[in-house]
Formats: sequence, C-alpha cells, structure tokens
Amino acid sequence: MKTIREYSAIINEAIASRQYGEPASLYDPIRYTMEGQGKRLRPVLTLAAAEAMNVAAADAVLPALGVELYHNFTLLHDDIMDNSPTRRGRLAVWKKWDTAQAILSGDTMLSEASGCIIDSPFGPSQRINMLRCFNETALIVDRGQQYDMDFERRSEVALDEYITMIEYKTGALLAGACMIGAMTGDASIDTVEAFRQYGLNLGIAFQIQDDILDVYGDEATLGKPIGGDIVNDKHTWLLISAMEKAPVAMADIFARNLPADEKIAAVREVYDSLGLRALAEQEVERYMSKAIEAIAAAGLSADAAAFFTDFANSLIGRKK
Ligand code: IPE
Ligand code: IPE
Ligand code: MG
Ligand code: MG
Ligand code: MG
Repeated sequence: MKTIREYSAIINEAIASRQYGEPASLYDPIRYTMEGQGKRLRPVLTLAAAEAMNVAAADAVLPALGVELYHNFTLLHDDIMDNSPTRRGRLAVWKKWDTAQAILSGDTMLSEASGCIIDSPFGPSQRINMLRCFNETALIVDRGQQYDMDFERRSEVALDEYITMIEYKTGALLAGACMIGAMTGDASIDTVEAFRQYGLNLGIAFQIQDDILDVYGDEATLGKPIGGDIVNDKHTWLLISAMEKAPVAMADIFARNLPADEKIAAVREVYDSLGLRALAEQEVERYMSKAIEAIAAAGLSADAAAFFTDFANSLIGRKK
C-alpha cells in the first residue's frame, strides 16, 4: 500500500496529462475544474481499494480518474442548484462562464467518466461490474440531490430522512469509489459489500462534517462560501437538531425574513446556545467508527486495513 499523498500524486498526474478534444469552449471549464485544489479523496479510495486487491495503482488509474471526473461533474451542477458562487477558492463554473456552460461541460464530464471505466485495462466482466456500479451510484446520487432540494421546501425533515438523503448524495459515491477499486481485482461479493459499508459510513460522517464546516469553517481554507446551507434552508443535522431542541427560537428566525448575513448569525447563535457543534462532531466520530468496523470485517491484509482506518481517522476534524 502507498500513502494518501502518493495515491493523490498519481491522480493529479493523470488529471494533468488528460487530453481533451475540440471545441476548447466545452473543455476549458473541465480543465479549470479538474485542475482546482480538490482533495482527491474518492480516487484515492479507488486506487487504495485496487491495491488492497493486489492490483497495481498504475493499472487502476483510469477508473480512479473516472470517479474524480464524476465527482467534479456533480460539483458543477451542485453549485448551480445551491446558487453557490465559489468552489475551491475560485469562481464556480456557472459564475466564471454561465449556467448553460456549467450544465453542458458537466454533462460531458459524466460521459468522460464512464468512458474512463470502459477504456480501463481490465477484462470485460470486471469492466461491466464497474460500469454497473458506476451507473447505480450515479442514480443514487441523483435521488439524494433531489431529496436535498425537496427538503429545502419542507418545514420539517426527520433525522432519519436526512441520514438517508446524505447517504444517497454523498455516501453512495464514497462507497462506489471503494467498490469500483475493489472490482478491478475481482473482489468477492462479501469484500465489495464490506467496502460499500465502509464508504457509506465514511460518506455520512464526511457530509455531517461538511455541514459543520458550512457554519463553522473558515471561508479562505474551505474555498466555498460559509452559511450557504442556512440561507438555502438546507435541512442539515444542525438545523434539524436545532428545530427539535429550540422550536420557538427557530420559528421566530424563519418568520423574520432576515437578510442573509443576519439570518446566518441568528441561526448560529441558536446552534451555539445548544452546543450543537460538539454534538455534531460526536456524530461524525460515531459514523467514522462504523466505517472502521466495516473495513475491519473485510478480511484485508493488515497493511490495507491500516490504510483505510487511518484514512477515516484523518478526516475527523478536517478543516477543508
Ligand atoms: C464536496 O466534496 C462535496 C461534498 C460531498 C460535501 P469534497 O469536499 O470532497 O470536495 P473537493 O473535491 O475536495 O473539492
Ligand atoms: C454535496 O452536497 C453533494 C453533492 C455534490 C452530490 P453540498 O451541496 O453540501 O456540497 P458543497 O458544500 O456544495 O460542496
Ligand atoms: Mg448541494
Ligand atoms: Mg452545494
Ligand atoms: Mg455543503
């Protein structure tokens, strides 16, 4: 097994050397996005899962690149849906170009992503398994993104509905990234399932942390706006908990129709008064532990099991 940094360098190299065709107007936003400062977590998982199955990372680069292309496609469209002007410290594609461009270049990234799997150097049965997994993953992410938007228009969302929503919109791709990596090495159904459980729980933890960072992060470090979830009435773990524990204070804020910055400050004040940040951080740790338990049961080599455990632990308390 290699280190996270080494896997990440392999992906960055593949991104930098990828050639796109004409017209440049279609591909420039893709290059711009892919060369941004992403953490590359998902393709790192794909490469590591491949190596855990004794497939060299160099051979699994195309599926891993496909996973990162797909993730970046979701970001292009997500920023339109969330009306979010910045990403990775730069203008989002829909702001730097326009919405039509972000839709079309995003669509192209989706097809480029599946193309990476089709062109990867594996046998037909592995590639069909990977492609099926990729397609199912994308369908689940769509459902999650739909729930995310539907919930904005609802006055109340239950905690289990929120968990399902983030399992779909975020957990599914972390799971898919691991499963696709494992499939390069023809992993057994049980091993693929253990990777799915690992990725799902990792993803739930990751999204709760993302929701925490939306309120408590530093905009320069995070590279995206602070408070967007509050402005958009996103039902995050924090919002749902606040509405449960302080319904009157929260209803009062919603009734006042405050300008964005005042609304963010007022909601944060309620979160602070209830100590919700620490409680949410406990939830992050709880789901990370579930992920670690799942991978411990996968029957991997000690080296591989340590990698995935360290990977999960490295995400706890992340600042970006
Ligand atoms: C952002 O994902 C979208 C979420 C699921 C919260 P990342 O935080 O992994 O984004 P990058 O790729 O590092 O920019
Ligand atoms: C991310 O949700 C889910 C997907 C992009 C599929 P968010 O909307 O919270 O992600 P950020 O905060 O914009 O990165
Ligand atoms: Mg979103
Ligand atoms: Mg968003
Ligand atoms: Mg977010």
